[in-house]
Amino acid sequence: MQLTTVMHPYLTEVLRAISLALELDQPTALLHGRRVAAVSSILAERALPEERSEVFCAGLLHDVGAVGMTERLFANPLLAHHPIDRDIDGHAWRSAAILAAAAGAHPTFRPAPCLVLDHHEWWNGRGYPSGKFGSEISLGAQLIRIADSLALAMHEAGKDRKLTLNRLGKRAGKEFYEDIFFLLSEILDNDLYEQLEDIGRVEELCDREIGDLPSSGRPQNCELDPAVEVLVQMLEAKHNYTAGHSKRVALHSRRVASSLNLSSDEIRFSYLAGLLHDVGKIAAPRSVLNKPGPLSKDEWRLMLKHPLFTEAILKELGVPDELLTVVRHVHERWDGTGYPDGISGEEIPLASRIVAVCDTFEGITSHRPYRQRATLPEALEELRRAGGSQFDPAIVEAAAAVVLDQLFLD
Ligand SMILES: [Fe+2]
Ligand SMILES: [Fe+2]
Ligand SMILES: [Fe+2]
Repeated sequence: MQLTTVMHPYLTEVLRAISLALELDQPTALLHGRRVAAVSSILAERALPEERSEVFCAGLLHDVGAVGMTERLFANPLLAHHPIDRDIDGHAWRSAAILAAAAGAHPTFRPAPCLVLDHHEWWNGRGYPSGKFGSEISLGAQLIRIADSLALAMHEAGKDRKLTLNRLGKRAGKEFYEDIFFLLSEILDNDLYEQLEDIGRVEELCDREIGDLPSSGRPQNCELDPAVEVLVQMLEAKHNYTAGHSKRVALHSRRVASSLNLSSDEIRFSYLAGLLHDVGKIAAPRSVLNKPGPLSKDEWRLMLKHPLFTEAILKELGVPDELLTVVRHVHERWDGTGYPDGISGEEIPLASRIVAVCDTFEGITSHRPYRQRATLPEALEELRRAGGSQFDPAIVEAAAAVVLDQLFLD
Protein backbone atom coordinates (compact mmCIF):
# COMPACT_ATOMS: atom_id res chain seq x y z
CA MET A 1 0.00 0.00 0.00
CA GLN A 2 1.23 3.51 -0.77
CA LEU A 3 2.06 5.84 2.10
CA THR A 4 -0.23 8.47 0.62
CA THR A 5 -3.12 6.20 1.65
CA VAL A 6 -1.93 6.28 5.26
CA MET A 7 -2.12 10.00 5.33
CA HIS A 8 -5.72 10.25 4.17
CA PRO A 9 -7.89 7.82 6.06
CA TYR A 10 -11.63 7.77 5.64
CA LEU A 11 -13.94 9.48 8.08
CA THR A 12 -15.14 6.16 9.53
CA GLU A 13 -11.57 5.06 10.19
CA VAL A 14 -10.75 8.33 11.95
CA LEU A 15 -13.88 8.05 14.10
CA ARG A 16 -13.15 4.44 15.00
CA ALA A 17 -9.52 5.16 15.93
CA ILE A 18 -10.49 8.12 18.15
CA SER A 19 -13.35 6.13 19.67
CA LEU A 20 -11.00 3.29 20.61
CA ALA A 21 -8.56 5.79 22.17
CA LEU A 22 -11.49 7.26 24.17
CA GLU A 23 -12.57 3.81 25.29
CA LEU A 24 -9.05 2.81 26.34
CA ASP A 25 -8.79 6.03 28.32
CA GLN A 26 -12.15 5.54 30.07
CA PRO A 27 -14.72 2.97 28.88
CA THR A 28 -17.67 4.93 30.31
CA ALA A 29 -16.59 7.97 28.27
CA LEU A 30 -17.21 6.17 24.98
CA LEU A 31 -20.63 4.89 26.08
CA HIS A 32 -21.57 8.44 27.08
CA GLY A 33 -20.31 9.78 23.74
CA ARG A 34 -22.27 7.15 21.83
CA ARG A 35 -25.50 7.94 23.68
CA VAL A 36 -25.09 11.65 23.04
CA ALA A 37 -24.25 11.01 19.38
CA ALA A 38 -27.27 8.73 18.86
CA VAL A 39 -29.74 11.15 20.48
CA SER A 40 -28.38 14.34 18.97
CA SER A 41 -28.34 12.73 15.54
CA ILE A 42 -32.00 11.62 15.82
CA LEU A 43 -32.90 15.14 16.94
CA ALA A 44 -30.92 16.59 14.03
CA GLU A 45 -32.80 14.38 11.59
CA ARG A 46 -35.91 16.37 12.56
CA ALA A 47 -34.50 19.81 13.39
CA LEU A 48 -31.33 20.15 11.29
CA PRO A 49 -31.35 17.40 8.63
CA GLU A 50 -28.65 18.96 6.45
CA GLU A 51 -26.13 18.78 9.33
CA ARG A 52 -27.04 15.40 10.76
CA SER A 53 -23.63 13.78 10.07
CA GLU A 54 -21.78 16.79 11.49
CA VAL A 55 -23.89 16.76 14.67
CA PHE A 56 -23.40 13.00 15.02
CA CYS A 57 -19.57 13.26 14.79
CA ALA A 58 -19.42 16.21 17.21
CA GLY A 59 -21.82 14.42 19.59
CA LEU A 60 -19.67 11.29 19.61
CA LEU A 61 -16.51 13.27 20.40
CA HIS A 62 -17.99 16.17 22.40
CA ASP A 63 -16.09 15.26 25.58
CA VAL A 64 -12.81 14.25 23.91
CA GLY A 65 -11.12 17.07 25.87
CA ALA A 66 -12.00 15.27 29.11
CA VAL A 67 -8.85 13.16 28.57
CA GLY A 68 -7.12 16.07 30.28
CA MET A 69 -9.33 15.89 33.40
CA THR A 70 -8.23 14.61 36.75
CA GLU A 71 -9.25 11.18 38.18
CA ARG A 72 -11.42 13.03 40.69
CA LEU A 73 -13.72 14.33 37.98
CA PHE A 74 -13.91 11.02 36.21
CA ALA A 75 -14.94 9.38 39.46
CA ASN A 76 -18.02 11.60 39.52
CA PRO A 77 -19.47 12.34 36.06
CA LEU A 78 -22.41 14.17 37.61
CA LEU A 79 -20.05 16.98 38.53
CA ALA A 80 -20.42 17.89 34.86
CA HIS A 81 -23.58 19.77 35.87
CA HIS A 82 -21.49 22.15 37.93
CA PRO A 83 -20.76 25.15 35.74
CA ILE A 84 -18.00 26.79 37.80
CA ASP A 85 -15.38 24.08 38.08
CA ARG A 86 -12.46 25.35 36.00
CA ASP A 87 -11.30 21.87 35.07
CA ILE A 88 -14.72 21.05 33.66
CA ASP A 89 -14.85 24.48 32.05
CA GLY A 90 -11.53 23.69 30.39
CA HIS A 91 -12.77 20.47 28.79
CA ALA A 92 -14.99 22.26 26.24
CA TRP A 93 -12.00 24.32 25.08
CA ARG A 94 -9.78 21.25 25.04
CA SER A 95 -12.38 19.28 23.03
CA ALA A 96 -12.58 22.15 20.53
CA ALA A 97 -8.77 22.42 20.26
CA ILE A 98 -8.35 18.68 19.73
CA LEU A 99 -11.12 18.52 17.13
CA ALA A 100 -9.71 21.57 15.35
CA ALA A 101 -6.82 19.22 14.49
CA ALA A 102 -9.35 16.77 13.03
CA ALA A 103 -11.13 19.41 10.96
CA GLY A 104 -8.77 18.77 8.03
CA ALA A 105 -9.44 15.03 8.09
CA HIS A 106 -12.84 15.32 6.46
CA PRO A 107 -15.35 18.13 5.69
CA THR A 108 -17.83 16.51 8.10
CA PHE A 109 -15.47 17.38 10.98
CA ARG A 110 -15.28 21.05 10.04
CA PRO A 111 -18.11 22.35 12.31
CA ALA A 112 -17.08 20.03 15.19
CA PRO A 113 -14.77 22.47 17.05
CA CYS A 114 -17.53 25.15 17.25
CA LEU A 115 -20.22 22.61 18.14
CA VAL A 116 -18.23 21.06 20.99
CA LEU A 117 -16.99 24.40 22.29
CA ASP A 118 -20.61 25.40 22.91
CA HIS A 119 -21.96 22.08 24.19
CA HIS A 120 -22.29 23.44 27.77
CA GLU A 121 -23.80 26.82 26.85
CA TRP A 122 -27.26 27.34 28.33
CA TRP A 123 -30.26 28.96 26.65
CA ASN A 124 -30.51 31.48 29.57
CA GLY A 125 -26.85 32.53 29.21
CA ARG A 126 -25.69 30.81 32.39
CA GLY A 127 -23.69 28.04 30.74
CA TYR A 128 -19.98 27.90 30.00
CA PRO A 129 -17.35 28.54 28.72
CA SER A 130 -18.56 31.76 27.02
CA GLY A 131 -21.96 32.45 28.61
CA LYS A 132 -23.66 32.66 25.20
CA PHE A 133 -27.37 33.42 25.26
CA GLY A 134 -30.37 32.02 23.33
CA SER A 135 -29.91 31.80 19.59
CA GLU A 136 -26.25 32.90 19.89
CA ILE A 137 -25.77 29.18 20.52
CA SER A 138 -25.88 27.20 17.26
CA LEU A 139 -28.79 24.78 16.90
CA GLY A 140 -26.36 21.85 16.55
CA ALA A 141 -24.71 22.71 19.88
CA GLN A 142 -28.14 23.01 21.51
CA LEU A 143 -29.04 19.51 20.30
CA ILE A 144 -25.81 18.11 21.73
CA ARG A 145 -26.50 19.98 25.02
CA ILE A 146 -29.92 18.36 25.52
CA ALA A 147 -28.63 14.94 24.43
CA ASP A 148 -25.78 15.31 26.96
CA SER A 149 -28.26 16.27 29.70
CA LEU A 150 -30.47 13.33 28.79
CA ALA A 151 -27.51 10.92 29.05
CA LEU A 152 -26.60 12.30 32.48
CA ALA A 153 -30.26 12.29 33.66
CA MET A 154 -30.56 8.63 32.58
CA HIS A 155 -27.53 7.92 34.73
CA GLU A 156 -29.42 9.36 37.73
CA ALA A 157 -32.96 8.11 37.05
CA GLY A 158 -32.12 4.71 35.50
CA LYS A 159 -34.99 2.82 33.89
CA ASP A 160 -37.65 5.41 34.70
CA ARG A 161 -38.29 7.32 31.46
CA LYS A 162 -40.97 9.56 33.00
CA LEU A 163 -38.72 10.55 35.89
CA THR A 164 -35.89 11.32 33.45
CA LEU A 165 -38.17 13.51 31.31
CA ASN A 166 -39.58 15.24 34.41
CA ARG A 167 -36.11 16.12 35.57
CA LEU A 168 -35.16 17.44 32.15
CA GLY A 169 -38.46 19.31 31.85
CA LYS A 170 -37.55 21.40 34.90
CA ARG A 171 -34.55 22.71 32.95
CA ALA A 172 -36.51 23.54 29.77
CA GLY A 173 -36.44 27.27 29.09
CA LYS A 174 -33.27 27.58 31.22
CA GLU A 175 -30.67 25.10 30.05
CA PHE A 176 -32.27 24.52 26.67
CA TYR A 177 -34.93 26.08 24.48
CA GLU A 178 -38.39 24.72 25.35
CA ASP A 179 -39.20 23.61 21.79
CA ILE A 180 -36.09 21.41 21.75
CA PHE A 181 -37.24 19.77 24.97
CA PHE A 182 -40.69 19.14 23.39
CA LEU A 183 -39.01 17.59 20.35
CA LEU A 184 -36.95 15.31 22.60
CA SER A 185 -40.10 14.28 24.55
CA GLU A 186 -41.74 13.43 21.22
CA ILE A 187 -38.94 11.20 19.92
CA LEU A 188 -38.08 9.60 23.27
CA ASP A 189 -40.71 6.85 23.25
CA ASN A 190 -40.31 3.72 25.35
CA ASP A 191 -38.54 1.88 22.56
CA LEU A 192 -35.81 4.50 22.04
CA TYR A 193 -35.37 4.85 25.81
CA GLU A 194 -34.85 1.09 26.14
CA GLN A 195 -32.38 1.12 23.25
CA LEU A 196 -30.39 3.88 24.93
CA GLU A 197 -30.23 1.88 28.15
CA ASP A 198 -28.74 -1.16 26.43
CA ILE A 199 -24.99 -0.76 25.85
CA GLY A 200 -24.99 -3.22 22.92
CA ARG A 201 -27.88 -1.50 21.15
CA VAL A 202 -26.32 1.96 21.60
CA GLU A 203 -23.14 0.57 20.03
CA GLU A 204 -25.19 -0.89 17.15
CA LEU A 205 -27.03 2.39 16.60
CA CYS A 206 -23.74 4.28 16.38
CA ASP A 207 -22.02 1.70 14.19
CA ARG A 208 -24.89 1.88 11.73
CA GLU A 209 -24.65 5.64 11.73
CA ILE A 210 -20.85 5.58 11.25
CA GLY A 211 -21.29 3.13 8.35
CA ASP A 212 -23.71 5.58 6.67
CA LEU A 213 -21.39 8.59 6.88
CA PRO A 214 -20.09 10.14 3.67
CA SER A 215 -16.71 8.67 2.73
CA SER A 216 -15.35 11.18 0.25
CA GLY A 217 -13.33 14.35 0.73
CA ARG A 218 -9.89 13.05 1.71
CA PRO A 219 -7.53 15.96 2.38
CA GLN A 220 -4.63 16.47 0.01
CA ASN A 221 -0.92 16.79 0.81
CA CYS A 222 -1.22 17.09 4.58
CA GLU A 223 2.21 17.39 6.21
CA LEU A 224 0.74 15.91 9.37
CA ASP A 225 -2.24 13.65 9.07
CA PRO A 226 -5.05 15.27 11.07
CA ALA A 227 -6.10 11.99 12.68
CA VAL A 228 -2.55 11.38 13.88
CA GLU A 229 -2.47 14.88 15.34
CA VAL A 230 -5.74 14.25 17.22
CA LEU A 231 -4.36 11.04 18.76
CA VAL A 232 -1.13 12.76 19.78
CA GLN A 233 -3.05 15.69 21.29
CA MET A 234 -5.32 13.32 23.23
CA LEU A 235 -2.30 11.55 24.69
CA GLU A 236 -0.55 14.79 25.55
CA ALA A 237 -3.67 16.20 27.24
CA LYS A 238 -3.56 13.17 29.55
CA HIS A 239 0.20 12.78 29.94
CA ASN A 240 0.75 16.27 31.20
CA TYR A 241 4.52 16.76 31.39
CA THR A 242 5.39 15.34 27.98
CA ALA A 243 3.87 18.07 25.78
CA GLY A 244 5.62 18.11 22.43
CA HIS A 245 7.55 14.86 23.12
CA SER A 246 6.07 12.89 20.21
CA LYS A 247 6.58 15.73 17.72
CA ARG A 248 10.21 16.21 18.79
CA VAL A 249 10.92 12.46 18.62
CA ALA A 250 9.39 12.46 15.12
CA LEU A 251 11.55 15.37 13.96
CA HIS A 252 14.75 13.87 15.45
CA SER A 253 13.94 10.51 13.85
CA ARG A 254 13.39 12.10 10.46
CA ARG A 255 16.77 13.85 10.69
CA VAL A 256 18.62 10.68 11.65
CA ALA A 257 16.83 8.66 8.92
CA SER A 258 17.71 11.34 6.34
CA SER A 259 21.36 11.38 7.46
CA LEU A 260 21.48 7.63 6.72
CA ASN A 261 20.19 8.28 3.18
CA LEU A 262 17.22 5.95 3.67
CA SER A 263 14.39 5.76 1.12
CA SER A 264 11.66 8.40 1.32
CA ASP A 265 9.23 5.76 2.64
CA GLU A 266 11.64 4.77 5.43
CA ILE A 267 12.19 8.41 6.34
CA ARG A 268 8.41 8.91 6.42
CA PHE A 269 7.95 5.77 8.54
CA SER A 270 10.57 6.98 11.01
CA TYR A 271 8.76 10.31 11.30
CA LEU A 272 5.29 8.78 11.71
CA ALA A 273 6.49 6.11 14.13
CA GLY A 274 8.12 8.87 16.18
CA LEU A 275 4.78 10.66 16.36
CA LEU A 276 2.77 7.57 17.15
CA HIS A 277 5.05 5.43 19.31
CA ASP A 278 3.38 6.31 22.63
CA VAL A 279 -0.28 6.71 21.55
CA GLY A 280 -1.28 3.49 23.37
CA LYS A 281 -0.21 5.07 26.68
CA ILE A 282 -3.67 6.66 26.68
CA ALA A 283 -4.81 3.32 28.17
CA ALA A 284 -2.68 3.83 31.30
CA PRO A 285 -4.28 5.36 34.40
CA ARG A 286 -3.41 9.01 35.01
CA SER A 287 -1.83 8.13 38.36
CA VAL A 288 0.71 5.90 36.59
CA LEU A 289 1.22 8.05 33.52
CA ASN A 290 1.89 11.23 35.48
CA LYS A 291 3.70 9.68 38.46
CA PRO A 292 6.59 11.99 39.37
CA GLY A 293 9.01 9.16 40.07
CA PRO A 294 9.96 5.57 39.27
CA LEU A 295 7.14 3.07 38.64
CA SER A 296 6.43 0.03 40.81
CA LYS A 297 6.62 -3.47 39.27
CA ASP A 298 2.85 -3.63 38.78
CA GLU A 299 2.77 -0.18 37.20
CA TRP A 300 5.55 -1.22 34.81
CA ARG A 301 3.60 -4.32 33.87
CA LEU A 302 0.74 -2.02 32.82
CA MET A 303 3.02 0.26 30.82
CA LEU A 304 4.65 -2.65 28.97
CA LYS A 305 1.34 -3.25 27.20
CA HIS A 306 1.18 0.17 25.59
CA PRO A 307 2.69 -0.81 22.20
CA LEU A 308 -0.17 -3.31 21.80
CA PHE A 309 -2.74 -0.59 22.44
CA THR A 310 -0.92 1.70 20.01
CA GLU A 311 -1.14 -1.02 17.40
CA ALA A 312 -4.87 -1.60 18.05
CA ILE A 313 -5.66 2.13 17.63
CA LEU A 314 -3.60 2.37 14.43
CA LYS A 315 -5.29 -0.71 13.00
CA GLU A 316 -8.62 1.11 13.35
CA LEU A 317 -7.06 4.01 11.47
CA GLY A 318 -6.18 1.66 8.63
CA VAL A 319 -2.42 2.29 8.51
CA PRO A 320 -0.45 -0.31 6.48
CA ASP A 321 1.07 -3.34 8.19
CA GLU A 322 4.62 -2.13 7.58
CA LEU A 323 4.07 0.99 9.68
CA LEU A 324 2.23 -1.03 12.35
CA THR A 325 5.31 -3.26 12.62
CA VAL A 326 7.65 -0.29 13.00
CA VAL A 327 5.51 1.27 15.74
CA ARG A 328 5.09 -2.06 17.56
CA HIS A 329 8.84 -2.56 17.89
CA VAL A 330 9.97 0.91 19.00
CA HIS A 331 10.45 -0.36 22.58
CA GLU A 332 12.48 -3.46 21.68
CA ARG A 333 16.15 -3.52 22.71
CA TRP A 334 19.18 -4.44 20.56
CA ASP A 335 20.06 -7.24 23.05
CA GLY A 336 16.54 -8.74 22.92
CA THR A 337 15.40 -7.74 26.42
CA GLY A 338 12.86 -5.12 25.27
CA TYR A 339 9.12 -5.40 24.73
CA PRO A 340 6.55 -6.43 23.53
CA ASP A 341 8.20 -9.34 21.60
CA GLY A 342 11.81 -9.42 22.82
CA ILE A 343 13.24 -9.49 19.28
CA SER A 344 16.87 -8.43 18.87
CA GLY A 345 19.49 -6.92 16.55
CA GLU A 346 18.52 -6.49 12.93
CA GLU A 347 15.24 -8.36 13.47
CA ILE A 348 14.06 -4.99 14.83
CA PRO A 349 12.97 -2.78 11.89
CA LEU A 350 15.51 -0.05 11.14
CA ALA A 351 12.96 2.74 11.61
CA SER A 352 12.06 1.31 15.06
CA ARG A 353 15.74 1.35 16.05
CA ILE A 354 16.01 4.98 14.97
CA VAL A 355 12.92 6.04 16.92
CA ALA A 356 14.16 4.13 20.01
CA VAL A 357 17.38 6.19 20.15
CA CYS A 358 15.57 9.47 19.45
CA ASP A 359 12.90 8.67 22.07
CA THR A 360 15.55 8.30 24.78
CA PHE A 361 17.52 11.31 23.53
CA GLU A 362 14.39 13.49 23.66
CA GLY A 363 13.43 12.14 27.10
CA ILE A 364 16.77 12.80 28.78
CA THR A 365 17.27 16.24 27.21
CA SER A 366 13.78 17.45 28.25
CA HIS A 367 12.62 18.68 31.60
CA ARG A 368 10.89 16.09 33.80
CA PRO A 369 9.58 16.77 37.33
CA TYR A 370 11.63 13.90 38.80
CA ARG A 371 15.06 14.62 37.33
CA GLN A 372 17.26 17.29 35.81
CA ARG A 373 17.56 17.51 32.06
CA ALA A 374 20.84 16.25 30.64
CA THR A 375 23.23 18.48 28.71
CA LEU A 376 24.07 17.40 25.13
CA PRO A 377 27.47 15.84 26.05
CA GLU A 378 25.82 13.98 28.96
CA ALA A 379 23.02 12.77 26.68
CA LEU A 380 25.48 11.50 24.05
CA GLU A 381 27.51 9.73 26.72
CA GLU A 382 24.36 8.03 28.02
CA LEU A 383 23.30 6.93 24.52
CA ARG A 384 26.79 5.57 23.76
CA ARG A 385 26.85 3.67 27.05
CA ALA A 386 23.60 1.94 25.99
CA GLY A 387 24.88 1.22 22.42
CA GLY A 388 25.17 -2.55 21.93
CA SER A 389 22.75 -3.34 24.78
CA GLN A 390 19.67 -1.12 24.48
CA PHE A 391 20.45 0.45 21.10
CA ASP A 392 21.93 -0.39 17.74
CA PRO A 393 25.43 1.17 18.11
CA ALA A 394 25.44 2.29 14.47
CA ILE A 395 22.22 4.27 15.02
CA VAL A 396 23.65 5.83 18.20
CA GLU A 397 26.64 7.05 16.17
CA ALA A 398 24.35 8.35 13.40
CA ALA A 399 22.27 10.22 16.00
CA ALA A 400 25.45 11.56 17.65
CA ALA A 401 26.68 12.84 14.28
CA VAL A 402 23.39 14.62 13.71
CA VAL A 403 23.59 16.16 17.20
CA LEU A 404 27.17 17.24 16.63
CA ASP A 405 26.10 18.83 13.36
CA GLN A 406 23.93 21.02 15.59
CA LEU A 407 20.80 19.83 13.81
CA PHE A 408 18.99 19.14 17.09
CA LEU A 409 19.50 22.72 18.16
CA ASP A 410 17.39 24.57 15.59
FE1 LIG B 1 -19.04 17.98 28.33
FE1 LIG C 1 -20.93 14.95 28.02
FE1 LIG D 1 8.33 8.11 24.09
